[in-house]
Amino acid sequence: MRRRDVLGVALLLPIESWAQTCGVVTPRQTEGPFFKTNTPRRTSLVEPASKAPRFLVTGTVLSAQCKPVPNALLDFWHSDEEGAYDNRGFRYRGHQHADSQGLFRLETIVPAEYPGRTRHIHVKVQAPGGPVLTTQLYFADDAGNRRDGLYRPELEMRSAKPGEGMFNFVLA
Ligand SMILES: [Fe+2]
Repeated sequence: MRRRDVLGVALLLPIESWAQTCGVVTPRQTEGPFFKTNTPRRTSLVEPASKAPRFLVTGTVLSAQCKPVPNALLDFWHSDEEGAYDNRGFRYRGHQHADSQGLFRLETIVPAEYPGRTRHIHVKVQAPGGPVLTTQLYFADDAGNRRDGLYRPELEMRSAKPGEGMFNFVLA
């Protein structure tokens, strides 16, 4: 698509679907030291005993041509309410597949900061048979964002209301 065409499409879309949608491939980021394979398949990472504030992440996986990617794999992991990763088990780790419209929904908690990092959620996203995008999502208006050298505004979830964040992944 030429840039002018992209902008033309944008004007026809509601603001919320445009902001993170077309034209810009989601930047990759380091996976960090705590990735684990073979995570459980689940859309909720909520631990029944946890008193941490709940958080809902929703969005769409899109191709660089702005088409939904049905059945895309999303593998999420993040720290717990004390800023620690579960490196023995699978607390706050899980994978899921986007639906036929490329939509995903993750129920979890607000992870805590840990030294040197602002609040974030790690994720790997992969179209069926495609390359893996490894990146991280950030929380809107978090005071820690400015102090974290890895933080990128393009990776901030948009927050329509407290406790919810929306992010559309655009795969290369
Ligand atoms: Fe991390």
